[in-house]
Amino acid sequence: MLAERKIILGITGGIAAYKAAELARELVRQGAEVRAVMTKNAVEFVAPLTFQTLTGHPVGLDMFQTRERSAIEHISLANWGELIIVAPATADILGKVAGGLACDLLSTTIMATRMPVLFVPAMNDLMWENRLVQGNIQKLKEAGYFFLDPDTGALACKSEGKGRMPETAAIAGEADRILSPKDLLEETILITAGPTREPFDPVRFISNHSSGKMGFALAAEARRRGARVILVSGPTGLKPPAGVEFVPITTAREMREAVMKELKRTTAVIKAAAVSDYRPAELSKNKIKKQPGKMTISLEMNPDILSEIGALKGKRILVGFAMETEGLLEHARGKLAAKNLDLIVANSLNEEGAGFQCDTNVVKIIDQEGGIQDVPRMEKLKVAGIILDRVRALRDKRADGIGP
Ligand code: PMT
Repeated sequence: MLAERKIILGITGGIAAYKAAELARELVRQGAEVRAVMTKNAVEFVAPLTFQTLTGHPVGLDMFQTRERSAIEHISLANWGELIIVAPATADILGKVAGGLACDLLSTTIMATRMPVLFVPAMNDLMWENRLVQGNIQKLKEAGYFFLDPDTGALACKSEGKGRMPETAAIAGEADRILSPKDLLEETILITAGPTREPFDPVRFISNHSSGKMGFALAAEARRRGARVILVSGPTGLKPPAGVEFVPITTAREMREAVMKELKRTTAVIKAAAVSDYRPAELSKNKIKKQPGKMTISLEMNPDILSEIGALKGKRILVGFAMETEGLLEHARGKLAAKNLDLIVANSLNEEGAGFQCDTNVVKIIDQEGGIQDVPRMEKLKVAGIILDRVRALRDKRADGIGP
């Protein structure tokens, strides 16, 4: 969340300027103090009064409009904020900043500051693909400016392609990530999420109720804290968090292959996925037709991915999950030992607000020494933060030469 963060919202002249109003509202809703700066062209699309009303502050429009006699506007703005978000960012502002130009209040504020700047480009798809625009983006990225790439979809110019301004939540999330302390910068964390699907004919499969929310929350939080994140996920309706490497899979065997391929470069693995232990022994090429009487599907065992990683663990931190309906602690402890884990996160299907589908979880984090941390009901994102605190603590211990 962006509570008490000081954010300058730069709005440039594109049709997506109207969406910047929604962004200003969201930033304020999250508790940020927002000052809007609009270019001359942005004012052609949305009236400054909109942003003045939403932020509760006058809008910066002009280099020579000074609010306090003693301060030059762009210098005072540049010293006041913690982050500049330029949304939408047109090809024009990207070109100006890449060229080192400071010719209006927004570009001058960007030139005169050391605070991070997040560009959120939104434009026609052909402009986005233009080599000069891409060259400017490359140059700006190399200079340390942050970018959130446009989404693909229907564009205002009636064409279809890449160029849409991303959702407000994604922009606010990226701002939060940029401003957060980065205590996992050294880590490459592989996270698994969601269910697997094990087909027995082209239209049917065996699966479970995992929504992917727990795994995606871990990926978002790890990324926010600076880790490189590889998210291997079964089918879910969720959008992968910005900045993570996303590897979609369907079956347990595909998950195994993806995990094993990436394992070498990881420093930690967190397996929140609900992997099917069994798959149908046979896969029919055609849809199986209804017949009178009973039908039997024989199953065979899937690979236990976590056990396999446990055997190859090395210095990695390995975290498993256990979803139980009875004997929560006993079964979870058994899995911790059998799979050679550092931690296991146990959740019960019988607990309200825990496990599959919901936005919250209630867990017990069990370690190799037998310690149990009770985590009461809270949002999965917060649970993710607590699990990552434990990963970080284990990493620190190992850096001090304590532990394996
Ligand atoms: O996705 P959500 O709707 O947010 O729900 C979250 C969750 C309930 C799926 C999650 O919190 C959770 O508990 N995930 C693990 C569920 C589970 O399948 O537990 P398990 O006891 O069957 O497996 C133990 C561990 O071994 C898990 O880390 C699992 O990923 C791993 N495993 C299991 C079987 C297998 N063949 N290979 C594995 O790697």
